[in-house]
Amino acid sequence: MNSIIITGGAGFIGSHVVRLFVNKYPEYRIINVDKLTYAGNLNNLRDIEDKPNYRFVRADICDFDTIYALMQQEQVTGVIHLAAESHVDRSIKDPFTFARTNVMGTLSMLQAAKLYWESLPEKYEGKRFYHISTDEVYGALELTHPEGLPSPFTTKASADGHETYGENFFVETTKYNPHSPYSASKASSDHFVRAFHDTYGMPTIVTNCSNNYGPYQFPEKLIPLFINNIRHKKPLPVYGKGENVRDWLYVEDHARAIDLIFHKGTVAETYNIGGFNEWKNIDIIKVVIRTVDRLLGRKEDEDMNLITFVTDRAGHDMRYAIDSRKLQRELGWEPTLQFEEGIEKTVRWYLEHQDWVDNITSGEYEKYYEDMYANR
Ligand code: NAD
Ligand code: TYD
Repeated sequence: MNSIIITGGAGFIGSHVVRLFVNKYPEYRIINVDKLTYAGNLNNLRDIEDKPNYRFVRADICDFDTIYALMQQEQVTGVIHLAAESHVDRSIKDPFTFARTNVMGTLSMLQAAKLYWESLPEKYEGKRFYHISTDEVYGALELTHPEGLPSPFTTKASADGHETYGENFFVETTKYNPHSPYSASKASSDHFVRAFHDTYGMPTIVTNCSNNYGPYQFPEKLIPLFINNIRHKKPLPVYGKGENVRDWLYVEDHARAIDLIFHKGTVAETYNIGGFNEWKNIDIIKVVIRTVDRLLGRKEDEDMNLITFVTDRAGHDMRYAIDSRKLQRELGWEPTLQFEEGIEKTVRWYLEHQDWVDNITSGEYEKYYEDMYANR
């Protein structure tokens, strides 16, 4: 039987992965291991928390003894590792927490899996350690494109349109060149995962994904923060000139990729995951403003004046762009949602779930967990 630990399952992407696995594989046992930091929220999982194949364990991935004991108790056959500190701005203020969770926490998960699996007669057979990483480990790309190709910022070309972009995209063999404390910590964790394959033969897989958007994203990240600010007519702090470019993928498409790669991906391989959907920040912000205004019945462009240019983020990476054709070619994955559809769904979800946002912004849910666990 498959018994899978998903770490960080109470966070944004993790909650979508947990939901997908719990619903799609009733025969699996899914154990969500999450410390419930400021970013973890069990309200993200209300619809599946009573399912018989689901268990939540509040634990710190850095706590090796607890993780090792859990692996033994649950006879774990697979790990899908998402738990991390994930916000670049926080990493600039507090790099230590990022090194602790992202580097030492990943090492703790790897070592616990290694010791447990090596203690079994069949050892690594039928096992899998899947580490979820980011495109930010590759560093930053230039804004310029080779002559003759369409602008990547306005034309959301399909995968087929990118045959000759070459160096201008991150591919799986692009050299790591992280700039922020966040991306440096994720790069380090990726190296440890690969080292456990190369040194001990652990069946590992690493994927590097572009920026995700969708329901349940903590409202400190660009899209949910701005939707909430527009709703409340608060300023929208655009870093620098808003010229930086990100490649946006709907979170459920990422979760589908994770499912596919966990089951069908080749051990020791890396797969890049992205939407071929690049946007300058300022352009995506305008789309978000127009969508919120329309859905709230406000006048067209009524809230454009909320855009407020502020001091740039230190070391702000100019452009990320993922070439995900390996995943498309080898495993047949492709994003299902057009960006227009995805952003409409996302804005609608946040507007319809104001209680979820308010609960976070009021800090209530953190207090709830503190009380609940203090009383145990
Ligand atoms: P998130 O911040 O929303 O969630 C992180 C989760 O990890 C939270 O539930 C938190 O409580 C938990 N956590 C943090 N520290 C922990 C610890 N020490 N022990 C146990 N649990 C802990 O993050 P996210 O945006 O869902 O990202 C999930 C993963 O995907 C991360 O590894 C991130 O690097 C990667 N990723 C994210 C994006 C993106 O756009 N959000 C893109 C590519 C890759
Ligand atoms: P973010 O959602 O923090 O993701 P990442 O930094 O991992 O790409 O930010 C997305 C882009 O939006 C990034 O270029 C920084 C920019 N940004 C702003 O301009 N203002 C903001 O308030 C935030 C949170 C981000």
